[in-house]
Amino acid sequence: MLTKNTAGVAVVKKIALTVNGKAYAIEIDIRESLLDVLRDRLQFTGVKQGCSVGECGACTVLIDGTPVNSCIYLASWADGKTITTIEGLAKDGQLTPVQEAFVEEGAIQCGFCTPGVVLSTTAMVQSGRSFTHAEVRRELSGHLCRCTGYQKIVDAAERALREAEAK
Ligand code: FES
Ligand code: FES
Repeated sequence: MLTKNTAGVAVVKKIALTVNGKAYAIEIDIRESLLDVLRDRLQFTGVKQGCSVGECGACTVLIDGTPVNSCIYLASWADGKTITTIEGLAKDGQLTPVQEAFVEEGAIQCGFCTPGVVLSTTAMVQSGRSFTHAEVRRELSGHLCRCTGYQKIVDAAERALREAEAK
């Protein structure tokens, strides 16, 4: 890795971040996206790479609980942050209620958009507030899905929210 660019500016930075409950201290190039660091350096390949320009939502991760497109988020900004990827949800093979809702509603076809929409739905559930149908659609509007026609995804998100509220 180059440590300086052609103008002599340092491009390497050490960052410390927590991913799925585990602490990492790594050197990154300040031009690297969080998506590249998560997928290529830390091997969290459940974070999907679609458009790479912030349009499709496939690369969504939770940063301190908020859904973010990791392709347009510099890895250097993640210093000190807590990241959750799709790999951080199920424990010992036990799906979370949100993941189960997606299975039960048949909201998964090719699965490419699924990590992102599941994480955005998880953020809604973790917020503890109620969402109207229109708000659920708006919260998921940053995710493109080529397979499901969206209705089943919205059904799954609303099921997860309903079940969480009933607890
Ligand atoms: S890959 Fe990040 S929004 Fe499409
Ligand atoms: S299930 Fe295929 S892109 Fe959404």
